Amino acid sequence: MQIAVVGSGYVGLVAGACFADLGHDVIVVDNDQQKLAALKSGQVPIHENFLPELLQRHRGKKLTFTDDLQAAVRVSSAIFIAVGTPPTEQGEADLSFVESVARSISGAIDGYKVLVEKSTVPVYTSDWVRKIVLRNAVSPDSFDVASNPEFLREGTAVTDFLYPDRIVVGADNERCAALLREVYAPLTEGTYYQKKDAIPGPDRAQIPPPIIVTSAKSAELIKHASNAFLAMKISFINAVASICESVGANVQQVCQGIGSDNRIGSRFLNPGIGYGGSCFPKDIMAFRSVARECGYDFRLLDEVMRINEEQRARFLRKIRSALWTLRGKRIGVLGLAFKGGTDDIRESPAIMLVKSLLQEGCTVSAFDPAAQERARSEEFGDRVEFASDPYEAARDADALLILTEWEEFGCLDLNRLRGELKYPIVIDGRNLYNPQVMAEHGFTYYSVGRPAALSEGIGSSSSVPAREVQKS
Ligand code: UDX
Ligand code: UDX
Repeated sequence: MQIAVVGSGYVGLVAGACFADLGHDVIVVDNDQQKLAALKSGQVPIHENFLPELLQRHRGKKLTFTDDLQAAVRVSSAIFIAVGTPPTEQGEADLSFVESVARSISGAIDGYKVLVEKSTVPVYTSDWVRKIVLRNAVSPDSFDVASNPEFLREGTAVTDFLYPDRIVVGADNERCAALLREVYAPLTEGTYYQKKDAIPGPDRAQIPPPIIVTSAKSAELIKHASNAFLAMKISFINAVASICESVGANVQQVCQGIGSDNRIGSRFLNPGIGYGGSCFPKDIMAFRSVARECGYDFRLLDEVMRINEEQRARFLRKIRSALWTLRGKRIGVLGLAFKGGTDDIRESPAIMLVKSLLQEGCTVSAFDPAAQERARSEEFGDRVEFASDPYEAARDADALLILTEWEEFGCLDLNRLRGELKYPIVIDGRNLYNPQVMAEHGFTYYSVGRPAALSEGIGSSSSVPAREVQKS
């Protein structure tokens, strides 16, 4: 099928590349000339596993890039809208990009087309898109509007797309549903997985994935409700972690205990420094606004957001209680991205914490395997020193913070790390280490929801430099 994808951000680019891998002919449209030039010249603008392979495989063949939206619409049967839906000051989703794209598409509808919402949008957006297109004198039987939410996590977006838990299609009539079924047929009929060069899937992939066909409004709600539920799960365990800290319990054991109940599940139950990213913070606020507009006061979501903010404040207090005063302290930071596996720093709790540390008068030396350039150009300039590896970030620091759950941060050479630090203090916002092991390696180690581990032999004293300890 000939498909157009409007917007080449994290969502649109991954969807476009994956549709091409399913065998469709895809035109990705964007109005950002710089981005287009980079994509056409073979650059991969975001850090995303398997995306370079897919772009390399299909670029210029099954996957092309253009700024000509109308030409792309004319030749396509399905047009996926994946432009940004940023929050307004009141927390609602700003749908002006969606509206302007819908208006431009109207001018090019010359046969039956399905306009598909891929961006996360509030319920009723499909109705609005429909109205906009009708207002532009398009006949009602030459188009439909569908909602096909994405459930892609950055970092694993390609495999999440190709090996989904479910595909949700919100279509209000059978003609429209049939077209979207055809788009996803290589996945739902399993033919994609028989291809020799199929992108490998995760262990627990459900093959073939189920497709759930709903009304457009239900699909819009499925997306907001899914993200709200996942964010609630994270805030819930963060709240439990705080209680664990007060009573000396271990949140990891608690997670194991509650997560092994199949009705609860252990995924998205990792406590930390709060959720960030371009989706959860924005979508929870937007869902709260949608509910308010519909006459439902969804105060549970306020609490999810409050706990999330409080989690960062608690972590900052933890740093203060480990170091006493902060002015003039040198802090090593591991991780700037909002989570591991991505270079995305949008709404990153790590970035917010580093800003607080700078404000308190600390100097910061940071390392992130992918997000460093973005952090330098978009946030910190020369206010932060950027290290070339974790050990350099730790060098001569009064303490080391772990702020992003990159896998490689969980397997550092602990003796080397301790040798680099001025004082052997690690404050881990992602619970990547076993407190006992850290203590055995001479660290004073604080994490989230678990008792602090004090370095053996040197008590809790942070006045003993790690290097000296090592030499002795
Ligand atoms: C965005 C939304 O933020 C998210 O809620 C939604 O689920 C999907 O779309 P993302 O792909 O991360 O996610 O957005 P972004 O990286 O901002 O990419 C949007 C792209 O659309 C940009 O490349 C932008 O240049 C392009 N765009 C925007 C257009 O081509 N036309 C427009 O009118 C507006
Ligand atoms: C999310 C949704 O998971 C995805 O389905 C949706 O389509 C887009 O939004 P993403 O924002 O890429 O994906 O990242 P996700 O893996 O959900 O993590 C979001 C935040 O929650 C990160 O800051 C992460 O560190 C944090 N998190 C996640 C936790 O603190 N604990 C967890 O157990 C899981």
